[in-house]
Amino acid sequence: MSNTNQGPVTVLGLGMMGTALATAFVKNGNPTTVWNRSADKADALVEQGAVFAADIKQAIEASPVVVACVSTYEVLNGLLADAADELKGKVVINLTSGTPEDARAFAVWAEQNGVRYLDGAIMAVPQMIGLPQALIFYAGSQEVYAEHEELLKPLAGTNVYLGADTGVAMIYDLGLLSLLWSSLAGYFHAVALVNSAGVSAEAFTPFALTWIEHVITPSIPQSAQEIDSASFDTEISSLGVNKAAIEHLVATSKQLGINSDFSAAIQALIERRVEQGHAGHSLASLVEAFKQG
Ligand SMILES: NC(=O)c1ccc[n+]([C@@H]2O[C@H](COP(=O)([O-])OP(=O)(O)OC[C@H]3O[C@@H](n4cnc5c(N)ncnc54)[C@H](OP(=O)(O)O)[C@@H]3O)[C@@H](O)[C@H]2O)c1
Repeated sequence: MSNTNQGPVTVLGLGMMGTALATAFVKNGNPTTVWNRSADKADALVEQGAVFAADIKQAIEASPVVVACVSTYEVLNGLLADAADELKGKVVINLTSGTPEDARAFAVWAEQNGVRYLDGAIMAVPQMIGLPQALIFYAGSQEVYAEHEELLKPLAGTNVYLGADTGVAMIYDLGLLSLLWSSLAGYFHAVALVNSAGVSAEAFTPFALTWIEHVITPSIPQSAQEIDSASFDTEISSLGVNKAAIEHLVATSKQLGINSDFSAAIQALIERRVEQGHAGHSLASLVEAFKQG
């Protein structure tokens, strides 16, 4: 991936993700200064041309743009608390994961300290950084994003600016993670069920993939349309039908000694909507049950 902006950049945090980010900048030809609490993690990057700063303040001073990627905002807040003077007038692009409120609180701190801030959420694993399939969401100052869009290109094939609300990148992040965990948990539950009948995960998986392709994937845009128009009438599969079916799943899991907590939680949402008079509505109307808390 080539990039026209080969300006200097500092990367704070060289865990799995920070190392991938710094490596992408080095490969792109950006003069890259790195800092990490555990200095040895910088060795391979220094061999590739990065400069290691032993002190976080020196690392910040080395570049106009600081890209941060540590484990949590709490850690980042602690690391930057004493570096406000060095950060004044600089750009901080924070790719640490957290909550929307973490991001918004950091934006307030940045504003109070004269730091130009952009929040980001990486929707990729470290091995995908720099590849076309990597996606990074950005939120916060549109001006900072526009100025640094080119600088950020070596990190991901797709960069999406979501808006001025600094918390919105983390909202998208958590939404996609919810989809990841719940869909994979559904698969793991399914495997536990088929394993109980002596069927291996590999033997079952082609049917899981076909099910995802032909049933689950098309139902997502269909659900989106229903949700956005608040119109949940269905001729496909009603909550009433699903209520009966999920009872079988929960009962069978219990009978087989398989954990049913995950399906019982979905069952409770379906039952609540049915009790509220929506037995004839589609599964998409469960979004209303989520909104009810
Ligand atoms: N890995 C992924 O697939 C992935 C995907 C998307 C987003 N992310 C996000 O990227 C961020 C970093 O993830 P990672 O995978 O790189 O995690 P990691 O490998 O565990 O690295 C954590 C980083 O935080 C630093 N750190 C932790 N506690 C610290 C402290 N008290 N003081 C100073 N530094 C501290 C670590 O420094 P030391 O090396 O000294 O321990 C290291 O640089 C997380 O917010 C994660 O959610 C990761």
